Amino acid sequence: MNKYHQISLSVNGKNIQREVPARLMLADFLRQDLSLTGTHLGCEHGVCGACTVLLDGDAVRSCLMFAVQADGREITTIEGLTPNEGLSSLQKSFCDHHALQCGFCTPGMIVTAEAFLQRGGKIDEASAREAISGNLCRCTGYQPIVAAIVVESKRRTTTAEAGDAR
Ligand code: FES
Ligand code: FES
Repeated sequence: MNKYHQISLSVNGKNIQREVPARLMLADFLRQDLSLTGTHLGCEHGVCGACTVLLDGDAVRSCLMFAVQADGREITTIEGLTPNEGLSSLQKSFCDHHALQCGFCTPGMIVTAEAFLQRGGKIDEASAREAISGNLCRCTGYQPIVAAIVVESKRRTTTAEAGDAR
């Protein structure tokens, strides 16, 4: 018998309450119950990173978490990282660098990269490569993906420094 649980969580800034089966995965909950289909499912066993979302700001694989484990937590999906009026600066950097081919891995890449950029610290080609090492791009387009992340990191640093100098 499938046991149901009441959960209450924040998804992309909205409070959500639902009754969900105990074994419903978070990725399926986001895609099927909330129609947030930007979270992709590739391997469904924690290898490819296509299903990455932010859980209280940390990048996690939503195919490895039950929806009930997100009770009381804050989830951000690729939709939540995309401004209403267009693309985020990181998304624009991906476009500028042609950092997507089929695009299937792209939402997970962007979510992982955003968590990496927000953590701060030293960002260069090597650390960007390591940050996305858990996200597979089957088209092997890693070079432009890394370039897009590093350039966006430099842009953010320059913007922050210009703000400090004011
Ligand atoms: S679908 Fe979750 S890691 Fe591949
Ligand atoms: S762009 Fe094709 S899998 Fe990443």
